[in-house]
Amino acid sequence: MILLTTFLTVTLYSQNARIKIDIERKIGQVDNNLYGNFVEHLGRCVYDGIYEPGSPLSDEQGFRKDVLEAVKGLKVSHIRYPGGNFVSNYHWLDGVGPKDERIPRMELAWARLEPNTFGTNEFIQFCRKVGTEPYLSVNMGTGTIEEAQRWVEYCNVKEGSYYAELRKKHGFQNPYNIKYWSLGNEMDGFWQMGHLSAEDYSKKAREAAKLMKLTSPDIKLVAAGSSNYRPNADPDEWNTTILHELRDVVDYIALHIYVGNPDNNYYNFLSTPLVCEQRTKLVRGMINEEMSKANRGTREPIYIAWDEYNVWYRARTDESMKGTRALEEPYNLEDALVIAGFLNVFVRNADIVKMANMAQLVNVIAPIWAEKQGIYKQTIYYPLSLFANNVKGSALDVFVDCETYNTEEFLIGLGESKTRQTNVPYLDVSATCNNGEVVLCVVNRNKDKAITTDILSQTGEFTGTFKVFEVNGPDVKAMNNFDNETVKTVVKPDINARGSKITYSFPAHSFTMIKGQIK
Ligand code: AHR
Repeated sequence: MILLTTFLTVTLYSQNARIKIDIERKIGQVDNNLYGNFVEHLGRCVYDGIYEPGSPLSDEQGFRKDVLEAVKGLKVSHIRYPGGNFVSNYHWLDGVGPKDERIPRMELAWARLEPNTFGTNEFIQFCRKVGTEPYLSVNMGTGTIEEAQRWVEYCNVKEGSYYAELRKKHGFQNPYNIKYWSLGNEMDGFWQMGHLSAEDYSKKAREAAKLMKLTSPDIKLVAAGSSNYRPNADPDEWNTTILHELRDVVDYIALHIYVGNPDNNYYNFLSTPLVCEQRTKLVRGMINEEMSKANRGTREPIYIAWDEYNVWYRARTDESMKGTRALEEPYNLEDALVIAGFLNVFVRNADIVKMANMAQLVNVIAPIWAEKQGIYKQTIYYPLSLFANNVKGSALDVFVDCETYNTEEFLIGLGESKTRQTNVPYLDVSATCNNGEVVLCVVNRNKDKAITTDILSQTGEFTGTFKVFEVNGPDVKAMNNFDNETVKTVVKPDINARGSKITYSFPAHSFTMIKGQIK
């Protein structure tokens, strides 16, 4: 009996791993809004990040041209602005009108002086330059519902009313027609200026929504879901309450997640995107319950917006969260693999996750690092860019059979609760199909071993040439800097595929994208 068990174990593990794709087994449409990003008035994200008037690297309006180019490479669907914690004490009128009349304010969230020389109109100009949609967040902390309404009026009403005319007086004749608006930021967090209970937040958000939609009926609204996963918090209670109270007025529930590797345990860290997937499933259930109770008629269901996600644990001390160089987090290869893992989670849950925003775009926990002399792309830039440029169409329900591992109990990130993950597959996979073009995204979490894998098509045959892109580096701690981009996308030799099987060896600690036709 012992002999037989040993034999079976060896047989099982000596065979190739398997990934089965069936282009008919569709989960849902991948929303282009999975490739969103975030610009907050924090550290050097806005000032000396995207905006640096007077720099030889900036254009005539003060936007850094090198940053604009790098942002374009990320094919960003939309950008959330102006915060973040910043927004909960931000008054948008401070940031519009003649620059010499704008007043500086104490910025209390991140301990800076806010000059207000960059505001709504500069942000919209930036969005137009990079070809992305603006997504604004209103102040539900120290702001009023009237202030929120007036911002919508300033942005979206064509003419006649005071704030529409004010926009025109400021030099912007046409309304911006901003579609996405979020009702505050992280209102469940005790750190939030103007933090509210779930009940008080729901009441305020519902009334703000009413005024905002009366002003501009086609806007889409995002409710501030859970962000507080500290051990003593109750994020599920927050989510169920606000979903119940706001189910008739909002289109998305925003969730935030930051993960890290504070214990320097690679395998624990690589499993953290699965926490995002577990939370997605939990909130999906809550949404389903509310939708079945509510009579939403033909309206679409509430969707999940992963409104802020990233790796963030190094620049998280009291000191590194303040001032002009706040939250400058250098990223390595293992961080890039975690980002690929997050994106795989969003694609695998494409029927309910309809928006995601990497937090943030430049300098502040960001894929782009800008200094006076130029920029470089951090490791996390590359998986994000590969997904945004290639992963579209229908998400497929992929079958994966490979070795797995269990983690210890560990901290998801600083300030977060603990988790333990079991049966974590070494291969983390998503797949999409767009008019016969299949894109397979695979993270090999194994730090030391390549995994030889049979990729099997169950409907149709692999046809023609498959392109292969890989993000990898000499070791999992490899980083980029101004002199060297050690971790980046490398184009590997094509696979000439025919039939229903491709065998491919995914290198240790890598992210691989394989792209080609199934006919
Ligand atoms: O992205 C940095 C901060 O993280 C945001 O301001 C806040 O919303 C979150 O806690």
